[in-house]
Amino acid sequence: MTTVPVPGPRRLPLLGNLPAFSRDPLAFFTRLRERGDLVEWRLGPQRALFLSRPEDIGELLTGIETEFRHPELGWAFKLVLGEGVVTSEGPAWRRKRALVQPAVRPRQVRGYAETMADCAATLADTWRPGQRLDVRDEMLGLTQRIAVRTLFGADTAGRESMIGPAMDVAQRAIGDEFRGVTLFLPPWIPTPGRRRLKRAVTVIDREVARVTELRRRGDEDRDDLLSRLLAARDEQDRPLTDKEIRDEAVTLYIGGHETTGTTLTWAWYLLSRSPGARARLTRELDDVLGGRPPGHDDLKQLPWTEQIIKETLRLYPPVWLMTGIAKADSTLAGRPVAEGTVLWSSQWSAHRDARWFPRPDDFRPERWDPDAAEAVPDHAWFPFGGGSRACLGARFAMVEAVLVLATLAQRFHVETDPGDIPPRTGLTLQPSCPLQATLRPAAG
Ligand code: HEM
Repeated sequence: MTTVPVPGPRRLPLLGNLPAFSRDPLAFFTRLRERGDLVEWRLGPQRALFLSRPEDIGELLTGIETEFRHPELGWAFKLVLGEGVVTSEGPAWRRKRALVQPAVRPRQVRGYAETMADCAATLADTWRPGQRLDVRDEMLGLTQRIAVRTLFGADTAGRESMIGPAMDVAQRAIGDEFRGVTLFLPPWIPTPGRRRLKRAVTVIDREVARVTELRRRGDEDRDDLLSRLLAARDEQDRPLTDKEIRDEAVTLYIGGHETTGTTLTWAWYLLSRSPGARARLTRELDDVLGGRPPGHDDLKQLPWTEQIIKETLRLYPPVWLMTGIAKADSTLAGRPVAEGTVLWSSQWSAHRDARWFPRPDDFRPERWDPDAAEAVPDHAWFPFGGGSRACLGARFAMVEAVLVLATLAQRFHVETDPGDIPPRTGLTLQPSCPLQATLRPAAG
């Protein structure tokens, strides 16, 4: 069906809609969605189209790699992620995706589930009723330990304290490259942030090389992501080189750690404000687990826990923006799209569209009850993207988030302080200030 584009908000000469977009991208996208399904706007000199209809978003997502391409990610991304699956395009990307995929198949994720639940239980053992904590720090610390252990297994024991923080410095530094004046500085100008980034990358390279070398020398087949990457073979039966292993390991870490940690952070925030949803969670955990720790086999029996995560991903999608650039003159939504046009869609605005999600700003996990969920069109909810470049770790992330939430919620209420916390845009959608909470015993 053809969609007629409507003009976007008033533009400034040269800058177009850049000031309004940079001031508050989430509010800007919401305004674009309210203007129409397909809106023309300009980011500086760049022609842009904003898509809000699920089928048009689907067309964009499935057209990435054929009609559209990802934008350049910049030197900082390349320095950290190298030539991994996220930073590659075309045939190189296809080869890498095929090599990484087996490491995150459902059967493999089942193997990682025990580590996920173990790490969550170890954290719960350190928590005390009445304790005050910063929920984001706790959740990111936990997903960092899970990421390091599922990637490298026991080989990082005692050195998690080096590799995790170095990865975090690198990830933060990538985010900083997209903020403020740094955005306009050529990459060869050294800033303190860039020096930190380079030091962090040196630590990452050294540690990943050390663990890879150890593993190559031993002949044990372990149940971690690194072993799966070492075992992978391409169509010509060639294994990954050490550099390729390093790039994919870092990609999996960066792709999975902050996204899942942030999801859990927002889940606690939403649950604290929704006593009904929390009570139903307690009931489900009591009925299914009766006090024992959850495992992979329990997941099917924990639909409400999963619906809480899905609803959290709707309201606070960690990845809040998807773009594609038309490689040549083509069509989208039945209308011509000129080469170079940037097509934008945002999980933030699409997930709060009242046409698919009545009372869109309310936290209502029941909208994911099987009957109700059927009414949600494809690509109206797309926290993991879609099409050929859809998130490789979606299953991993859902299993991790559900098991962590079940393990911790079984033992504690994480009561976040009152007051609304708006999200802040960065590489992922974060709370704009610390999310403080008090722990209460779940059975109290
Ligand atoms: C809640 C958690 C997560 C969210 C919301 C999320 C979201 C996304 C999205 C939207 C994309 C597509 C990006 C694009 O096309 O521009 C993506 C790609 C990717 N994700 Fe995730 N992700 C999550 C967790 C994970 C985890 C746990 C892993 C690894 C274990 C992972 C690995 C990847 C990889 C490797 C890609 C690149 C796929 C490709 O380009 O072919 N993600 N993710």
